[in-house]
Amino acid sequence: MAIEHTFSIIKPDATRRNLTGAINAMIEAAGLRIIAQKRVHMTRAQAETFYAVHSARPFYGELTQQMSAEPVVVQVLAGDNAIQRYRDLMGATNPANAADGTIRKAHALSVGENSVHGSDSADNAKIEIAQFFAGNEIVG
Ligand code: CMP
Repeated sequence: MAIEHTFSIIKPDATRRNLTGAINAMIEAAGLRIIAQKRVHMTRAQAETFYAVHSARPFYGELTQQMSAEPVVVQVLAGDNAIQRYRDLMGATNPANAADGTIRKAHALSVGENSVHGSDSADNAKIEIAQFFAGNEIVG
């Protein structure tokens, strides 16, 4: 199977609680490689663009406010079937429904503060990666 790239965000609820290393350890233990990573403080406009697909949802304002209120860590992860494998590792969006062994079961606080984001398709991974990384920042 071909190596895939996926885009990950370690969200403010996790960076605030010093969980970047713990989450990275879970990512690496699952066999995914962190091939790009940086800590950024998104502007509200960046968060609104990133989550534009959710702009009609009732939680859009709260989501984009939270994501731009504090630093996040953005990443590119690589591996066979990386998009689906990272979604499996993250667990259900609502941590109340997340399986044992997942990042959200271990660390998430609520559906709004669910510690991590991962791309849901190859097309979106490409779009999301391009919003935060130049090609020469991704080193496989
Ligand atoms: P994420 O994978 O980053 O993609 C969209 C985000 O919207 C999702 O994770 C949640 O953090 C957030 N979200 C989804 N549903 C709700 C909800 N009902 N209330 C608040 N936030 C939500």
